[in-house]
Amino acid sequence: MAKFQAPKGVSEYFPDRSAHFDYVRQAIIDSARSAGYQLMELPVFEDTELFARGVGESTDVVRKEMYTFEDRGGRSITLRPEGTAGVMRAVIEHNLDRGQLPVKVYYSGAFFRAERPQAGRYRQFYQVGIEAIGLSDPRIDVEVIAVAERAFQELGLKNYHLEITSLGDVPTRENYLRDLRAFISTMELDSETAERASINPLRLFDDKRPEIRQKLESAPVLMDYLTPESAADFELVKKSLDALGIAYVINPRMVRGLDYYTGTAFEFVHAELGAQSGIGGGGRYDGLMAQLGGQELSGIGFGLGVDRILLACEAEGLQLPEGLGLDLYIVPLGTTDEAFVLAEKLRGHGIRVDLAFGEKALKGAMKSADKSGATYSIVLGADEITSGQVQLKDMRSGVSTSVTLGALAEVLIERIANLGADS
Ligand code: HAM
Repeated sequence: MAKFQAPKGVSEYFPDRSAHFDYVRQAIIDSARSAGYQLMELPVFEDTELFARGVGESTDVVRKEMYTFEDRGGRSITLRPEGTAGVMRAVIEHNLDRGQLPVKVYYSGAFFRAERPQAGRYRQFYQVGIEAIGLSDPRIDVEVIAVAERAFQELGLKNYHLEITSLGDVPTRENYLRDLRAFISTMELDSETAERASINPLRLFDDKRPEIRQKLESAPVLMDYLTPESAADFELVKKSLDALGIAYVINPRMVRGLDYYTGTAFEFVHAELGAQSGIGGGGRYDGLMAQLGGQELSGIGFGLGVDRILLACEAEGLQLPEGLGLDLYIVPLGTTDEAFVLAEKLRGHGIRVDLAFGEKALKGAMKSADKSGATYSIVLGADEITSGQVQLKDMRSGVSTSVTLGALAEVLIERIANLGADS
Protein backbone atom coordinates (compact mmCIF):
# COMPACT_ATOMS: atom_id res chain seq x y z
CA MET A 1 0.00 0.00 0.00
CA ALA A 2 1.23 3.49 -0.78
CA LYS A 3 2.48 5.39 2.23
CA PHE A 4 0.27 8.18 3.48
CA GLN A 5 1.57 11.71 3.38
CA ALA A 6 0.38 14.85 5.11
CA PRO A 7 -1.87 17.04 2.95
CA LYS A 8 0.06 19.49 0.78
CA GLY A 9 1.36 22.64 2.40
CA VAL A 10 0.58 21.98 6.08
CA SER A 11 3.08 22.75 8.81
CA GLU A 12 3.65 20.04 11.40
CA TYR A 13 6.03 19.61 14.30
CA PHE A 14 7.55 16.50 15.82
CA PRO A 15 10.52 15.84 18.11
CA ASP A 16 13.05 17.40 18.39
CA ARG A 17 11.80 20.55 16.65
CA SER A 18 8.40 20.41 18.36
CA ALA A 19 10.13 21.47 21.61
CA HIS A 20 11.26 24.65 19.88
CA PHE A 21 7.82 25.28 18.46
CA ASP A 22 6.30 24.82 21.90
CA TYR A 23 8.84 27.21 23.42
CA VAL A 24 8.07 29.95 20.88
CA ARG A 25 4.32 29.57 21.31
CA GLN A 26 4.64 29.60 25.10
CA ALA A 27 6.77 32.76 25.06
CA ILE A 28 3.94 34.61 23.30
CA ILE A 29 1.29 33.17 25.61
CA ASP A 30 3.35 34.09 28.71
CA SER A 31 3.71 37.64 27.45
CA ALA A 32 -0.05 37.90 26.84
CA ARG A 33 -0.88 36.49 30.26
CA SER A 34 1.52 38.86 31.96
CA ALA A 35 -0.60 41.72 30.63
CA GLY A 36 -3.91 40.22 31.82
CA TYR A 37 -5.12 38.45 28.66
CA GLN A 38 -7.18 35.32 29.37
CA LEU A 39 -7.64 32.18 27.30
CA MET A 40 -10.35 31.94 24.64
CA GLU A 41 -10.67 28.45 23.14
CA LEU A 42 -12.86 28.52 20.05
CA PRO A 43 -13.96 26.11 17.31
CA VAL A 44 -11.73 25.76 14.26
CA PHE A 45 -14.79 25.99 12.05
CA GLU A 46 -17.54 28.61 11.94
CA ASP A 47 -20.40 29.67 9.70
CA THR A 48 -18.94 30.77 6.37
CA GLU A 49 -20.98 33.97 6.59
CA LEU A 50 -19.06 35.07 9.70
CA PHE A 51 -15.81 35.32 7.74
CA ALA A 52 -17.46 36.68 4.59
CA ARG A 53 -18.90 39.52 6.66
CA GLY A 54 -16.12 39.92 9.21
CA VAL A 55 -13.01 39.55 7.07
CA GLY A 56 -14.57 41.06 3.95
CA GLU A 57 -15.85 39.86 0.56
CA SER A 58 -13.11 41.69 -1.34
CA THR A 59 -10.17 40.09 0.45
CA ASP A 60 -8.01 37.32 -1.03
CA VAL A 61 -8.67 35.37 2.15
CA VAL A 62 -12.43 35.23 1.50
CA ARG A 63 -12.34 35.14 -2.29
CA LYS A 64 -9.68 32.50 -2.82
CA GLU A 65 -8.29 31.01 0.34
CA MET A 66 -11.09 29.65 2.50
CA TYR A 67 -11.61 25.94 3.11
CA THR A 68 -15.36 25.92 2.79
CA PHE A 69 -17.61 22.87 2.78
CA GLU A 70 -21.16 21.85 3.45
CA ASP A 71 -21.68 19.91 6.66
CA ARG A 72 -24.11 17.00 6.97
CA GLY A 73 -26.92 19.38 7.81
CA GLY A 74 -26.39 21.36 4.61
CA ARG A 75 -24.81 24.35 6.40
CA SER A 76 -21.89 26.17 4.84
CA ILE A 77 -18.92 25.80 7.16
CA THR A 78 -15.42 27.28 6.86
CA LEU A 79 -12.19 26.32 8.60
CA ARG A 80 -11.08 29.51 10.37
CA PRO A 81 -8.64 31.52 8.24
CA GLU A 82 -8.04 33.93 11.14
CA GLY A 83 -9.08 34.41 14.76
CA THR A 84 -10.60 37.85 15.23
CA ALA A 85 -14.02 37.23 13.66
CA GLY A 86 -14.53 34.11 15.80
CA VAL A 87 -13.55 35.98 18.97
CA MET A 88 -16.06 38.74 18.17
CA ARG A 89 -18.77 36.16 17.47
CA ALA A 90 -18.11 34.51 20.84
CA VAL A 91 -17.92 37.80 22.74
CA ILE A 92 -21.30 38.86 21.34
CA GLU A 93 -22.90 35.41 21.73
CA HIS A 94 -21.80 35.00 25.36
CA ASN A 95 -22.41 38.66 26.35
CA LEU A 96 -18.83 39.19 27.45
CA ASP A 97 -19.17 42.76 26.19
CA ARG A 98 -21.86 43.38 28.83
CA GLY A 99 -19.37 42.78 31.64
CA GLN A 100 -16.26 44.67 32.59
CA LEU A 101 -14.39 46.31 29.72
CA PRO A 102 -12.02 45.88 28.09
CA VAL A 103 -12.43 42.16 27.41
CA LYS A 104 -8.82 40.95 27.06
CA VAL A 105 -8.38 37.47 25.58
CA TYR A 106 -5.73 35.37 23.87
CA TYR A 107 -5.99 32.30 21.67
CA SER A 108 -3.58 29.81 20.21
CA GLY A 109 -4.18 27.28 17.51
CA ALA A 110 -4.32 26.22 13.88
CA PHE A 111 -5.62 28.43 11.08
CA PHE A 112 -6.30 27.50 7.48
CA ARG A 113 -5.77 29.34 4.21
CA ALA A 114 -5.64 27.65 0.79
CA GLU A 115 -2.58 29.59 -0.30
CA ARG A 116 0.14 28.48 -2.69
CA PRO A 117 2.55 26.74 -0.31
CA GLN A 118 6.13 28.00 -0.04
CA ALA A 119 8.73 28.47 2.67
CA GLY A 120 6.91 30.12 5.58
CA ARG A 121 3.51 30.02 3.90
CA TYR A 122 1.32 27.07 4.79
CA ARG A 123 -2.24 25.93 4.34
CA GLN A 124 -2.48 25.01 7.99
CA PHE A 125 -0.42 27.32 10.17
CA TYR A 126 -0.32 28.41 13.80
CA GLN A 127 -1.06 31.74 15.40
CA VAL A 128 -1.16 33.08 18.90
CA GLY A 129 -3.45 36.08 18.93
CA ILE A 130 -4.73 38.58 21.47
CA GLU A 131 -7.75 40.89 21.34
CA ALA A 132 -8.65 43.81 23.62
CA ILE A 133 -12.28 44.79 23.14
CA GLY A 134 -14.19 47.82 24.34
CA LEU A 135 -11.51 50.47 24.91
CA SER A 136 -10.66 53.21 22.44
CA ASP A 137 -7.69 54.66 24.40
CA PRO A 138 -4.71 54.59 21.97
CA ARG A 139 -2.55 53.35 24.82
CA ILE A 140 -4.22 49.94 24.55
CA ASP A 141 -2.98 49.84 20.94
CA VAL A 142 0.50 50.22 22.33
CA GLU A 143 -0.09 47.62 25.04
CA VAL A 144 -1.00 45.12 22.30
CA ILE A 145 2.14 45.95 20.35
CA ALA A 146 4.21 45.72 23.54
CA VAL A 147 2.92 42.20 24.25
CA ALA A 148 4.31 41.07 20.88
CA GLU A 149 7.52 43.02 21.36
CA ARG A 150 8.15 41.48 24.78
CA ALA A 151 7.66 37.96 23.39
CA PHE A 152 10.20 38.65 20.61
CA GLN A 153 12.65 40.07 23.15
CA GLU A 154 12.21 37.05 25.43
CA LEU A 155 13.01 34.77 22.52
CA GLY A 156 16.10 36.85 21.78
CA LEU A 157 15.03 37.93 18.27
CA LYS A 158 16.94 40.91 16.89
CA ASN A 159 16.67 41.16 13.14
CA TYR A 160 13.10 42.43 12.82
CA HIS A 161 11.31 45.76 12.85
CA LEU A 162 7.87 47.15 13.58
CA GLU A 163 5.90 49.06 10.94
CA ILE A 164 2.90 51.15 11.93
CA THR A 165 0.30 53.23 10.18
CA SER A 166 -3.12 54.70 10.82
CA LEU A 167 -6.10 53.86 8.67
CA GLY A 168 -8.10 56.65 10.31
CA ASP A 169 -11.72 56.85 11.38
CA VAL A 170 -14.90 56.70 9.27
CA PRO A 171 -14.74 60.32 7.95
CA THR A 172 -11.03 59.82 7.16
CA ARG A 173 -11.80 56.83 5.03
CA GLU A 174 -14.87 58.39 3.38
CA ASN A 175 -12.82 61.34 2.18
CA TYR A 176 -9.91 59.18 1.19
CA LEU A 177 -11.98 56.56 -0.64
CA ARG A 178 -13.74 59.26 -2.64
CA ASP A 179 -10.42 60.50 -3.96
CA LEU A 180 -8.99 57.00 -4.37
CA ARG A 181 -12.02 55.90 -6.41
CA ALA A 182 -11.61 58.96 -8.62
CA PHE A 183 -7.94 58.03 -9.07
CA ILE A 184 -8.76 54.39 -9.85
CA SER A 185 -11.35 55.45 -12.43
CA THR A 186 -8.43 56.84 -14.47
CA MET A 187 -6.74 53.41 -14.50
CA GLU A 188 -7.48 50.71 -17.07
CA LEU A 189 -8.35 47.55 -15.18
CA ASP A 190 -9.47 44.06 -16.22
CA SER A 191 -13.00 43.22 -15.10
CA GLU A 192 -11.99 41.02 -12.15
CA THR A 193 -9.67 43.67 -10.73
CA ALA A 194 -12.25 46.39 -11.35
CA GLU A 195 -14.87 44.37 -9.48
CA ARG A 196 -12.56 43.85 -6.56
CA ALA A 197 -11.68 47.52 -6.46
CA SER A 198 -15.34 48.46 -6.58
CA ILE A 199 -16.05 46.40 -3.43
CA ASN A 200 -13.02 47.84 -1.63
CA PRO A 201 -10.65 50.15 -3.54
CA LEU A 202 -7.96 49.61 -0.88
CA ARG A 203 -7.60 46.04 -2.09
CA LEU A 204 -5.92 47.27 -5.23
CA PHE A 205 -2.84 47.87 -3.07
CA ASP A 206 -2.62 44.07 -2.54
CA ASP A 207 -2.03 43.61 -6.26
CA LYS A 208 1.43 42.21 -6.92
CA ARG A 209 1.58 43.07 -10.67
CA PRO A 210 4.38 45.59 -11.40
CA GLU A 211 2.28 47.66 -13.84
CA ILE A 212 -0.48 48.13 -11.22
CA ARG A 213 2.07 48.84 -8.48
CA GLN A 214 3.75 51.45 -10.58
CA LYS A 215 0.50 53.23 -11.37
CA LEU A 216 -0.48 53.21 -7.70
CA GLU A 217 2.68 55.04 -6.72
CA SER A 218 0.97 58.31 -7.55
CA ALA A 219 -2.30 57.33 -5.82
CA PRO A 220 -3.46 59.43 -2.85
CA VAL A 221 -2.06 58.28 0.52
CA LEU A 222 -4.52 57.60 3.33
CA MET A 223 -2.40 59.15 6.07
CA ASP A 224 -2.72 62.53 4.37
CA TYR A 225 -6.48 62.36 5.05
CA LEU A 226 -6.43 61.71 8.82
CA THR A 227 -9.03 63.80 10.67
CA PRO A 228 -7.67 65.84 13.61
CA GLU A 229 -9.05 63.17 16.01
CA SER A 230 -7.37 60.30 14.15
CA ALA A 231 -4.14 62.25 13.84
CA ALA A 232 -4.18 62.96 17.60
CA ASP A 233 -4.76 59.27 18.36
CA PHE A 234 -1.87 58.33 16.12
CA GLU A 235 0.35 60.92 17.82
CA LEU A 236 -0.48 59.36 21.19
CA VAL A 237 0.34 55.90 19.83
CA LYS A 238 3.74 57.13 18.67
CA LYS A 239 4.38 58.96 21.96
CA SER A 240 3.45 55.86 23.99
CA LEU A 241 5.69 53.64 21.85
CA ASP A 242 8.51 56.10 22.49
CA ALA A 243 7.76 56.02 26.21
CA LEU A 244 8.16 52.23 26.18
CA GLY A 245 11.32 52.43 24.07
CA ILE A 246 9.74 50.43 21.22
CA ALA A 247 11.28 51.35 17.87
CA TYR A 248 9.02 51.66 14.79
CA VAL A 249 8.94 52.95 11.26
CA ILE A 250 5.86 54.55 9.77
CA ASN A 251 4.68 52.84 6.62
CA PRO A 252 1.92 55.03 5.10
CA ARG A 253 1.34 52.45 2.35
CA MET A 254 0.83 49.40 4.55
CA VAL A 255 -2.01 47.21 3.37
CA ARG A 256 -3.43 44.67 5.74
CA GLY A 257 -5.02 41.65 4.06
CA LEU A 258 -8.29 41.82 6.03
CA ASP A 259 -11.02 44.43 5.60
CA TYR A 260 -11.95 45.14 9.20
CA TYR A 261 -9.06 47.44 10.09
CA THR A 262 -9.49 51.06 11.24
CA GLY A 263 -7.08 53.40 13.04
CA THR A 264 -3.77 51.92 14.15
CA ALA A 265 -2.45 49.03 12.05
CA PHE A 266 0.93 47.35 12.42
CA GLU A 267 3.17 44.59 11.19
CA PHE A 268 6.34 42.98 12.47
CA VAL A 269 8.70 42.19 9.62
CA HIS A 270 11.72 39.90 9.88
CA ALA A 271 14.72 40.51 7.66
CA GLU A 272 15.82 36.91 7.08
CA LEU A 273 12.65 35.19 5.90
CA GLY A 274 12.52 36.12 2.22
CA ALA A 275 9.07 36.75 0.74
CA GLN A 276 7.08 35.60 3.79
CA SER A 277 8.64 38.12 6.12
CA GLY A 278 5.56 39.08 8.20
CA ILE A 279 5.97 37.42 11.60
CA GLY A 280 2.84 39.05 12.97
CA GLY A 281 0.41 41.84 12.46
CA GLY A 282 -2.75 43.42 13.71
CA GLY A 283 -4.57 46.62 14.39
CA ARG A 284 -7.77 48.31 15.43
CA TYR A 285 -11.14 47.15 14.10
CA ASP A 286 -13.64 49.62 15.50
CA GLY A 287 -16.58 48.73 13.25
CA LEU A 288 -16.30 44.94 13.37
CA MET A 289 -18.46 44.19 16.36
CA ALA A 290 -21.40 46.22 15.05
CA GLN A 291 -20.83 44.67 11.61
CA LEU A 292 -21.33 41.24 13.19
CA GLY A 293 -24.52 42.25 14.96
CA GLY A 294 -23.08 43.38 18.31
CA GLN A 295 -22.84 46.77 19.95
CA GLU A 296 -20.65 49.61 18.73
CA LEU A 297 -17.50 48.65 20.59
CA SER A 298 -13.95 49.22 19.50
CA GLY A 299 -11.28 46.54 19.48
CA ILE A 300 -7.63 45.95 18.75
CA GLY A 301 -5.46 42.86 18.56
CA PHE A 302 -2.73 40.94 16.82
CA GLY A 303 -2.06 37.54 15.30
CA LEU A 304 1.52 36.32 15.51
CA GLY A 305 2.63 33.56 13.14
CA VAL A 306 4.26 30.90 15.34
CA ASP A 307 5.66 28.98 12.33
CA ARG A 308 7.40 32.05 10.97
CA ILE A 309 8.68 33.19 14.36
CA LEU A 310 10.28 29.76 14.80
CA LEU A 311 11.84 30.09 11.32
CA ALA A 312 13.09 33.55 12.33
CA CYS A 313 14.67 32.16 15.53
CA GLU A 314 16.36 29.45 13.47
CA ALA A 315 17.55 31.96 10.86
CA GLU A 316 19.13 34.01 13.65
CA GLY A 317 20.77 30.88 15.09
CA LEU A 318 19.10 31.30 18.49
CA GLN A 319 19.56 28.50 21.02
CA LEU A 320 16.09 27.31 21.97
CA PRO A 321 15.72 24.79 24.81
CA GLU A 322 16.10 21.17 23.74
CA GLY A 323 14.03 18.15 24.55
CA LEU A 324 11.62 17.41 27.31
CA GLY A 325 13.28 19.16 30.22
CA LEU A 326 13.54 15.83 32.10
CA ASP A 327 14.90 15.93 35.62
CA LEU A 328 15.94 12.28 35.89
CA TYR A 329 16.65 9.34 33.62
CA ILE A 330 16.70 5.87 35.21
CA VAL A 331 18.87 3.13 33.74
CA PRO A 332 17.68 -0.26 35.06
CA LEU A 333 20.13 -3.12 35.26
CA GLY A 334 18.76 -6.66 34.97
CA THR A 335 15.07 -6.09 35.60
CA THR A 336 13.00 -2.98 34.82
CA ASP A 337 10.39 -3.75 37.52
CA GLU A 338 11.78 -1.60 40.35
CA ALA A 339 12.80 1.24 38.03
CA PHE A 340 9.31 1.31 36.56
CA VAL A 341 7.71 1.66 40.01
CA LEU A 342 10.30 4.20 41.19
CA ALA A 343 9.76 6.37 38.08
CA GLU A 344 6.03 6.54 38.70
CA LYS A 345 6.55 7.32 42.40
CA LEU A 346 8.93 10.18 41.60
CA ARG A 347 6.57 11.56 38.95
CA GLY A 348 3.96 11.71 41.70
CA HIS A 349 6.28 14.19 43.48
CA GLY A 350 6.32 16.46 40.40
CA ILE A 351 9.71 15.20 39.19
CA ARG A 352 9.98 14.67 35.41
CA VAL A 353 11.30 11.14 34.91
CA ASP A 354 11.91 8.76 32.01
CA LEU A 355 13.60 5.36 31.99
CA ALA A 356 15.12 2.82 29.64
CA PHE A 357 12.78 -0.08 28.97
CA GLY A 358 13.70 -3.68 28.18
CA GLU A 359 16.94 -5.50 28.59
CA LYS A 360 19.16 -2.83 27.07
CA ALA A 361 22.87 -3.27 27.66
CA LEU A 362 24.25 -0.68 30.08
CA LYS A 363 26.10 1.15 27.31
CA GLY A 364 23.01 1.55 25.13
CA ALA A 365 20.94 2.65 28.13
CA MET A 366 23.55 5.25 29.15
CA LYS A 367 23.41 6.61 25.62
CA SER A 368 19.63 6.98 25.96
CA ALA A 369 20.20 8.82 29.23
CA ASP A 370 22.56 11.24 27.45
CA LYS A 371 20.17 11.74 24.56
CA SER A 372 17.21 12.34 26.88
CA GLY A 373 18.76 15.63 27.97
CA ALA A 374 17.83 14.80 31.59
CA THR A 375 19.62 16.79 34.29
CA TYR A 376 20.38 13.69 36.40
CA SER A 377 20.61 9.94 35.92
CA ILE A 378 20.81 6.88 38.16
CA VAL A 379 21.60 3.23 37.50
CA LEU A 380 19.22 0.87 39.34
CA GLY A 381 20.39 -2.76 39.58
CA ALA A 382 20.37 -5.53 42.18
CA ASP A 383 23.25 -3.88 44.13
CA GLU A 384 21.46 -0.55 44.45
CA ILE A 385 18.23 -2.21 45.48
CA THR A 386 19.94 -4.33 48.15
CA SER A 387 22.01 -1.45 49.55
CA GLY A 388 19.27 1.14 49.17
CA GLN A 389 21.89 3.55 47.79
CA VAL A 390 22.12 5.02 44.28
CA GLN A 391 24.71 7.21 42.57
CA LEU A 392 22.91 10.36 41.46
CA LYS A 393 24.86 11.58 38.46
CA ASP A 394 24.75 15.23 37.38
CA MET A 395 24.77 14.80 33.60
CA ARG A 396 26.39 18.14 32.92
CA SER A 397 29.31 18.00 35.34
CA GLY A 398 29.56 14.19 35.37
CA VAL A 399 29.81 14.32 39.18
CA SER A 400 27.98 11.58 41.14
CA THR A 401 26.78 11.69 44.72
CA SER A 402 25.55 8.82 46.85
CA VAL A 403 21.89 9.18 47.84
CA THR A 404 19.58 6.73 49.63
CA LEU A 405 16.56 5.58 47.64
CA GLY A 406 14.36 6.83 50.46
CA ALA A 407 15.75 10.37 50.19
CA LEU A 408 15.94 10.49 46.38
CA ALA A 409 12.70 12.41 45.83
CA GLU A 410 13.57 14.98 48.46
CA VAL A 411 17.14 15.49 47.18
CA LEU A 412 15.92 15.88 43.60
CA ILE A 413 13.22 18.36 44.55
CA GLU A 414 15.76 20.45 46.44
CA ARG A 415 18.30 20.37 43.63
CA ILE A 416 15.70 21.24 40.97
CA ALA A 417 14.55 24.19 43.07
CA ASN A 418 18.17 25.39 43.38
CA LEU A 419 18.71 25.00 39.64
CA GLY A 420 15.60 27.12 39.00
CA ALA A 421 16.90 29.80 41.39
CA ASP A 422 20.32 29.88 39.66
CA SER A 423 19.03 30.25 36.12
P1 HAM B 1 -2.76 38.28 9.39
O1 HAM B 1 -1.80 39.37 9.11
O2 HAM B 1 -3.59 37.77 8.28
O3 HAM B 1 -3.68 38.82 10.57
O4 HAM B 1 -1.98 37.06 10.03
C1 HAM B 1 -1.16 37.23 11.15
C2 HAM B 1 0.14 36.44 11.00
O5 HAM B 1 -0.15 35.06 10.75
C3 HAM B 1 1.00 36.86 9.82
O6 HAM B 1 1.79 37.98 10.12
C4 HAM B 1 1.84 35.62 9.60
O7 HAM B 1 2.94 35.61 10.51
C5 HAM B 1 0.89 34.49 9.97
N1 HAM B 1 0.33 33.88 8.75
C6 HAM B 1 -0.71 34.30 8.02
N2 HAM B 1 -0.93 33.48 6.97
C7 HAM B 1 0.00 32.50 7.04
C8 HAM B 1 0.32 31.33 6.27
N3 HAM B 1 -0.40 30.99 5.20
N4 HAM B 1 1.36 30.55 6.65
C9 HAM B 1 2.11 30.87 7.76
N5 HAM B 1 1.84 31.94 8.53
C10 HAM B 1 0.82 32.75 8.20
C11 HAM B 1 -4.68 38.11 11.14
O8 HAM B 1 -4.88 36.93 10.98
C12 HAM B 1 -5.51 38.94 12.09
N6 HAM B 1 -6.61 38.10 12.65
C13 HAM B 1 -4.66 39.50 13.20
C14 HAM B 1 -5.42 40.37 14.13
C15 HAM B 1 -5.91 40.05 15.34
N7 HAM B 1 -5.80 41.61 13.87
C16 HAM B 1 -6.49 42.08 14.90
N8 HAM B 1 -6.59 41.12 15.80
